[in-house]
Amino acid sequence: MLSKSAAKKFFLIGTVVCSGCFVLLTVDTVQKVPQQSHAENITPEVIHGKDLWDHNNCMGCHTIMGEGAYYAPELTKVYERRGPIFIKSMLKDPQAMFPGQRNMQKYNFTETEIDSLVAFLKWIGEVDLNGFPKKPDLVPAAPTANTAQLSELPLPTKPAVFDQVCVACHALQGKGGAVGPVLDGVGNRRNHDFLVSWLKDPLAVKADSKMPKLPLTDEQVQELANFLSQLK
Ligand code: HEC
Ligand code: HEC
Repeated sequence: MLSKSAAKKFFLIGTVVCSGCFVLLTVDTVQKVPQQSHAENITPEVIHGKDLWDHNNCMGCHTIMGEGAYYAPELTKVYERRGPIFIKSMLKDPQAMFPGQRNMQKYNFTETEIDSLVAFLKWIGEVDLNGFPKKPDLVPAAPTANTAQLSELPLPTKPAVFDQVCVACHALQGKGGAVGPVLDGVGNRRNHDFLVSWLKDPLAVKADSKMPKLPLTDEQVQELANFLSQLK
């Protein structure tokens, strides 16, 4: 048993040591913030994006770094997951990216505002969060009859934009969304010229198409058309 004065000393010394550790660790963390957040990348565009994020209450539905509401997807790593083309189309018209099941409202942002929000989400995605959030697995597609046999075949080189944007709606080798048709074997039914016009503007080819016009560059269209026409 400690005597009363020994207990007092134990309490006082314990408190001082623990408080000291707490202050030192806090200072250490605060010093690391500029480095972990890449403070040098906080451009006026990023700040404008952050203002838009706050003023439009995106956090009423989404979380960033786990903070916000749990109605809509976590957006900390959305830039890496979806890429700028998907995010831009989503902010322009959410209905286009989720036909028939829109839950996010349309904001009528200008191009500059959309670019700023994308810059903000890119910056957030690059903050070093010690591994948070864990990477989600890709949504499994509705199984197709011949998936097992197809996934054995090696694929021609896949453009990066395919895995960011197209898989949201299309499945290939059993992976991806089920909004649009499965793209295995698309090269058998669609030729290169068709694919180029389709990717440039689906609505110009088929007026009631549910595939949105995506902000792809000519180079990305060519790459994708080359890739898709080889899927035989
Ligand atoms: C009313 C709730 C709501 C608000 C407010 C909202 N969103 Fe969304 N958002 C959603 C939902 C729900 C989804 C999932 C797609 C869907 O069902 O429409 C989504 C999807 C997204 C996606 C695509 C995420 C992914 O992983 O595919 C982005 C990017 C996005 N929202 C950005 C924003 C930004 C930026 C704001 C603020 C300007 C915002 N959202 C405000 C509900 C909301
Ligand atoms: C928001 C969902 C969505 C996204 C994103 C999307 N597509 Fe589509 N896509 C569709 C739908 C729906 C169709 C069927 C259109 C129709 O016939 O009305 C389609 C049709 C197609 C077709 C024609 C397929 C066929 O069998 O005739 C091709 C090729 C295609 N998409 C490629 C792509 C590529 C490449 C991307 C990525 C750059 C992409 N799509 C992104 C929804 C989407």
